[in-house]
Amino acid sequence: MEDRKPSDTTVTPIDLETFGVSEEFGFVLEDPLTDLPEYYRPWMDLAADITCLTETHQLRDKVKEMPLLSTQYLRSHREQRLAHLALSFITMGYVWQEGQGQPAKVLPQQLAVPYCAVSDALGLPPILVYADCVLANWKLKDPTKNLDTLFTFPGAETCKGFFLVSLLVEKAASTGMKVTYGIVTAMNSLQTHSTDRLQEALVMVTQSLRRMKECFQLMHLLMQRLQCGSRWKDNPMLPEGLRYEGVFQEPLQFSGGSAAQSSAIQCFDALLGVMQTDPSAGAFLKRMHDYMLPPHRALIQTISHSPPLRSYVLLVGDSHLARTYNTCVSQMVELRDYHLNMVARYITVPGNRAQAAARGCPLRGIGSALDKQGTGGSNPLLFLKAVRDSTRGAFIHIS
Ligand code: HEM
Repeated sequence: MEDRKPSDTTVTPIDLETFGVSEEFGFVLEDPLTDLPEYYRPWMDLAADITCLTETHQLRDKVKEMPLLSTQYLRSHREQRLAHLALSFITMGYVWQEGQGQPAKVLPQQLAVPYCAVSDALGLPPILVYADCVLANWKLKDPTKNLDTLFTFPGAETCKGFFLVSLLVEKAASTGMKVTYGIVTAMNSLQTHSTDRLQEALVMVTQSLRRMKECFQLMHLLMQRLQCGSRWKDNPMLPEGLRYEGVFQEPLQFSGGSAAQSSAIQCFDALLGVMQTDPSAGAFLKRMHDYMLPPHRALIQTISHSPPLRSYVLLVGDSHLARTYNTCVSQMVELRDYHLNMVARYITVPGNRAQAAARGCPLRGIGSALDKQGTGGSNPLLFLKAVRDSTRGAFIHIS
C-alpha cells in the first residue's frame, strides 16, 4: 500500500451494501440457502455425502456418472454462492480422493463446465475459497441458534471447527455496525476533520479487533491440528495445475482456500495504513484479493484510496488521538501475535503434523508439506512474522 498524503483527500462516500457487506454480518453471507432447485439435486447429493463417498473411494465414479447441468437456472446471488460451495467441495473430494500421492489431474467436464461458469458469474476462481467454506458455509442448527456447517470433509470436527471459528471471527469483525460502520465513520471523520468522531471510530475498531481475538481463542478449545485447505499452485503433486475438461485446454494453477482471503483484516490494514515491508508477504496478500468476491475486494481498494488516516493523525498532532490510533494498531498486532502462536502450535509442531496426516482428510494432499508451506502456498511462520512486524511499523511515535 503506498503512503498516501493527506493533501490528496477526495472522499467517496461508502455505502457498505454496495460492497456486499451487511451491517450485522459483515462479509459473511447473510442467511445462506441450504438447498438449490430440484434440477441441481445431483450436485447437492454428492456434496452432502462427500465424506462417505471419498472414504469409500466412490466419488470419482459418481462424478463421472453425473449429468452435465446448465447454470442458467441459478437465479440469485445466494443460489450461485451455494452452487459454488457445493461444486468446490465436490472438486476437492474428486482431486484428493486417493490422497496426496494420487491427485486427479483432470476435472471431468460434468464438473468443470458448470463450476467454471458459476465461478465466472461470481468473479471467483474455480477452487474452494474462504468465501465458500467460511463465509457461505453455515446454517442455524436448531432453535437455540447454534451454528453448523452446510458441508464438511472427512475429519469433520476439525474442518467444522475451523470453518465455524473463522465465521465467528468474521462476524465479530462487523457485528452491530462495529467495524464496518467504524470504518465508514472514520472515513467521514476525515472528511469533516472531526477529531472527536475519529477518536470514537478508532475506539470502535479497537473493540471489534478485541472481540475478534476473543472469538479466535475458541480455536484453542477445539484442540485440533490442521487447517483444511488445498491447492494446485506451487504444489509438487500437481506441478502443472489442474485441467478443467471442456473449458480450458491447459491446466490452471490456483492457491487453496486460506483465511488470508479474509477481507476484514485487509480492510483494517487499509484503514490503519499498515504497509507491508516484506515484498513477498505484500505480494501474497495482494494475490489473495483475486480469491475474494469482487465487491469485497473493491471495498479494500476504496479504503486504500480514501484519505490516509495515519497521515491525518500525524498532521493534527493531537497526542490523545495518536494514542487511540496506537491502541488500535496494538490490538491488530496482538491479534496477529495470537494467530502466529496458533499456527506455530498446530501446524509446525511435528507430533501434530503426524496426527493430522493420519486423519484422512481428502485435503491431506497438502498436509505433509504444511511445515514449509501454508495452504495459500507461503512459508507460514516467516510470512506471518513479516506481516505482524509490518503492522508494528504503523505505530506513531509520540514525543
Ligand atoms: C488453528 C487455526 C489456524 C491456522 C492453523 C491458520 C494458519 C494460517 C496460515 C498457515 C497462514 C499463512 C497463509 C497461508 O498459507 O494460507 C494464515 C494466514 C492468515 N490467517 Fe490463519 N490460521 C488459522 C486460523 C485463522 C482464523 C480463525 C483467522 C480469522 C478469520 C485467520 C486469519 C488469517 C489471516 C488474515 C491470514 C493472513 C495473514 C495476516 O493478514 O495476518 N486464521 N493462517
